[in-house]
Amino acid sequence: MTYKLFTLNKSDDGITEIIINNQSAAVNVIDWEFNDEFKQILDDIKADQSVVGVIVTSAKPSFVAGADLSIMEDFIKPSITPTQAAQMIGRIGDTLRQLEQLGKPVVGASTGTALGGGLEILLACHYRIAADNPSAKYGLPEVGLGLLPGAGGTQRLPRIIGIVKALPMLQEGRPISTQDALKLKIINEIVSPDQLMDAAHKAILEKRVPSVQPWDIKGYKMPGGDSFTISMDSVFAAANAKALSKVGGNLPAPKAILSCVYEGSAIPIDKALNIEKMYFAKLVQGKESQNLIQIQFYARQAADKLIARPAGIPSTKVQKLGIVGTGFMGQGIAQVAAEVGIAVVMLDRELSIAKTAIEAIEKNWVLAVEKGSLKPEAAIKMGGNLTASGDINELINCDLIIEAIVEDLEVKHKLLAQLNALNMPNCILASNTSTLPIGELAKATSRPEMVVGLHFFSPVPKMALVEVIKSSSTSDETLARSLDFVRQIRKTPIVVNDAYAFYTTRCVEAFIREGIRMLAEGIDPAMIENAAITLGMPVGPLTLCDEVGLDVIRHIQKGALAFSGEAYEKDHSDDLIEKLFIDKRYGRKSGGGIFDYSNLLKSVWKGLPITAPSLEINTTDIESRLLAIQLLAAASAWDRGIVQDPAQADLGAALGWAFPVQLGGPFREIENQGIEQFVKSADVLATKYGKRFAPPIFLKEMAQKGEVFNKK
Ligand code: NAI
Repeated sequence: MTYKLFTLNKSDDGITEIIINNQSAAVNVIDWEFNDEFKQILDDIKADQSVVGVIVTSAKPSFVAGADLSIMEDFIKPSITPTQAAQMIGRIGDTLRQLEQLGKPVVGASTGTALGGGLEILLACHYRIAADNPSAKYGLPEVGLGLLPGAGGTQRLPRIIGIVKALPMLQEGRPISTQDALKLKIINEIVSPDQLMDAAHKAILEKRVPSVQPWDIKGYKMPGGDSFTISMDSVFAAANAKALSKVGGNLPAPKAILSCVYEGSAIPIDKALNIEKMYFAKLVQGKESQNLIQIQFYARQAADKLIARPAGIPSTKVQKLGIVGTGFMGQGIAQVAAEVGIAVVMLDRELSIAKTAIEAIEKNWVLAVEKGSLKPEAAIKMGGNLTASGDINELINCDLIIEAIVEDLEVKHKLLAQLNALNMPNCILASNTSTLPIGELAKATSRPEMVVGLHFFSPVPKMALVEVIKSSSTSDETLARSLDFVRQIRKTPIVVNDAYAFYTTRCVEAFIREGIRMLAEGIDPAMIENAAITLGMPVGPLTLCDEVGLDVIRHIQKGALAFSGEAYEKDHSDDLIEKLFIDKRYGRKSGGGIFDYSNLLKSVWKGLPITAPSLEINTTDIESRLLAIQLLAAASAWDRGIVQDPAQADLGAALGWAFPVQLGGPFREIENQGIEQFVKSADVLATKYGKRFAPPIFLKEMAQKGEVFNKK
């Protein structure tokens, strides 16, 4: 019999090789067809007395990348009940149970990466051998999509490596290397790739592979003990606290995983697998996983594939990059570029400043070498990509120059004019400005079509997003090449249209300013911060203000008046900002802002010029205000044509200013609330707290016409 997704090979030694081989895709993924074929193969093998052992392997350099996420749509059809959803995932679980109960020794021979369902297949094998593949990753990343491994992962992993080691892998979802998988005993052996199949055959023929799982043998004891073991109490308590600490405890998946392990570890595996199915069904039908899958998978994948790249322009690579301004941001950009092998010239007002920046970058690499995440030879090679400069002429032959100097139009104009005069017609001039319109900056050059905004986020090595800003003059070629560069440095781009403060800056400023307004109204800072954390944001608006800098927030408002022509009405937040500004309470960088950092513990600054609350405090309203102000800022960016792709704008929110990821982004949240409902609640807030909450007319029209942002 032939199969579409598998190749079968029965060798002379009586061992059947099941080779997973989806010939129409770059990687193997699990879907219903995969499951049906796999089940059929196992039925046939079971019936064939001549088969003495089985090897499950892959025809590709990776093993199995996980489930095809499009099958998740099947779980959320309105007609599907939770019990039916549990039965559906159970189909895959049953196949893996069948694999481990074939009554014949089964070796998982992994060629490389095995994630999610891929690792679950390996866990259902009686013995696991991995090819020594340095780029391979092993893990159960479902939690990142609001799900859990629903084909036995939450039950088999603790039964193989113990609860203590399994919980972080399940709850955090971080994949590990082949070597680490061996250390954890997830993998039994590592061999060179060309020895993989021989080693698998040998293991079976030498009778090193049992034909039954340890948990199917009477008297089985979980390594380290099951959840009824007294010493496990503290393990579960700590894991529970960790699960609750993530995005304000708003993510159900880490909690569900914990419940699966807790409830399942002390009972027979078949019952435990049933528990897992029920929890999976609940998660997969929940809004959070749908939001997370949309934003973390579909939107992210589209962005990484450069969805907004103009067609028909050949792909490019930056060979030589110029960075002007080697302060905090310039240094970060130079670091990530050097890490991918780009030659970077780092120019500052003085050579010594650029040299100091290189030293700081090299310090980061030394730390990485010490931690074992970077090889010393690689650090040396990366260091060779950096050149410090105090002479603008050394930028000659750059394909791209990014300026990251002070946020001042006049100073940036002067620099851009100098760069323009270098007369490099093929060189793109990019600005890392966080607010200034790119069209305005481009006026200093003779070729505005080659000027673009590349807005990075701090700290650059950690933050994935780059907001790419195209002005009305930016050419398609410049945009395409800029996006190629973002991909080259392994960042994720969103493309936005030009305007003062673009998209992310205007939204984050609105969030921070609403926090400051509440502070000025006399609301306890702890209540404000906690409300944001309850929403699922990593920090509150006041902490964020101290991190970004109150001077920067003030500057953004001043610029808004100068550039945008948008009506700006002063209010009580401006008064408080001015008072703090006069006191030089800029934030952490100036030694203190809204909070004091003079002691080891952060505390609210005692000198805050705030008196008794001026309004009745309503905790629900604090949360509603902090969320609504972000949604309205995003809606306003839509209204102004700054963002035009709701899924990409949602992604930008999650990656750029840590909008609560479980809500799926501002546009998805407006839709999840229902546009009509959102308009109504914004109107209520406007009546109570001011017209900044008044919903824009276009939203009212959308509500009337029953239109949606996400047409999918
Ligand atoms: P910074 O003050 O740390 O660094 C600026 C650097 O530019 C300094 O080393 C300074 O010596 C140099 N410089 C100033 N004028 C120069 C000139 N004419 N020629 C050469 N070098 C010059 O500033 P930071 O924070 O790195 O910000 C730089 C730019 O990045 C600004 O436009 C800022 O708005 C933007 N940005 C900042 C973010 C942040 O979190 N700090 C985030 C995103 C964008």
